[in-house]
Amino acid sequence: MSMRLATGHEVVPMSEEWMAEKPETRQIYHRGMVRIMPEGWLYPATAPHFLNKIQDFKFRAEDVLVVTFPKSGTTWMQEIAWTMLHNPDLDNPNAHESLLVRSPDISQEMTHDGKMIPKDQLEMFNKKLETLRPGSRVEDGVVMQLLEIMPGPRVIKSHYPITLFPPNLLDTTKVVYVARNPKDTVVSFYHFCRVIKVFNYQGSFDNFVEEFMNDGLTFGPYWPHLADAWRRRDHPNLLIVFYEDLQADIMAELHKINKFLGTNLTQKQLENVAQQTAFSTMKSRGEPMEKGAFNKDLLKSSGGYIRKGVMGDWRNHMSPELNQEMDQWIQRHTAELGLSFKWDS
Ligand code: A3P
Repeated sequence: MSMRLATGHEVVPMSEEWMAEKPETRQIYHRGMVRIMPEGWLYPATAPHFLNKIQDFKFRAEDVLVVTFPKSGTTWMQEIAWTMLHNPDLDNPNAHESLLVRSPDISQEMTHDGKMIPKDQLEMFNKKLETLRPGSRVEDGVVMQLLEIMPGPRVIKSHYPITLFPPNLLDTTKVVYVARNPKDTVVSFYHFCRVIKVFNYQGSFDNFVEEFMNDGLTFGPYWPHLADAWRRRDHPNLLIVFYEDLQADIMAELHKINKFLGTNLTQKQLENVAQQTAFSTMKSRGEPMEKGAFNKDLLKSSGGYIRKGVMGDWRNHMSPELNQEMDQWIQRHTAELGLSFKWDS
């Protein structure tokens, strides 16, 4: 049995067999999993409810939506955009608030099914909602309701691709899409799933990569996500930024983002943004997630959320065989899309 979203996408529930098949690699949520077709987005079964709600969500012209496949540099770009808009002189007292609050994740709602999200994090949202909007119902979407009353310009995070938003999204709102080469993305995703308690991944790196390439990881598949942004790359309200370019020349990228957002920052202010969002500064400010969300023993050895922040860490993880397999997979898809990645610094 399948249903349709307001966007026309078909929702196909994943079978019990599929969910039981690879307990090590598959992240199964309380209410099961679905694929959203035709692209095949793999999400918790709560996603369709919130995706339909997003169709009625009021995006504003001043909003900035940061859209990414997980582990592509989302947090970095959120911090860049927020600092440009709200803290270019580094004097905003709210800069120390969690990014979860300063730049809420609209795609996070679907994970609020009580199993895969740390309880204290859920409670933080619920309490905030109760205080700011008494009488609101959590089922209506905590993040969306908080966003509704948030003063602008809002910096909103999303792992949902652009196609799942209202069709006129880009006519209303600026979108920054961050892309990262798939080898470093999967390495980062692997470490994240190991260190985050709710995922607690204990399988091998090779199995994780196979699942990534076979579209079995939540928030995937990778290529349609990138393709969905890439085919809109000429839209004036979309800016595609590569993680590797941020690494290679942050000032050049900040100039581009400054122009795109229309923030008109001075050279000094852009330097402030670079300083505030540098890996070492963000690392020293602490994790963007609650401490309790991490497996403490692994945190030290693995590095946590703001982990290593380099280009080319895949070289430390991949066997020649796996690397070759990935290369073929990547070549096929990049040729189709007509794009190329930088692989090393
Ligand atoms: P690594 O695990 O390779 O270190 P996301 O925010 O999309 O989850 O992406 C997380 C990745 O971005 C992690 O990559 C993290 O270290 C990296 N990252 C976060 N902030 C960064 C920064 N200021 N500079 C460089 N990389 C950063």
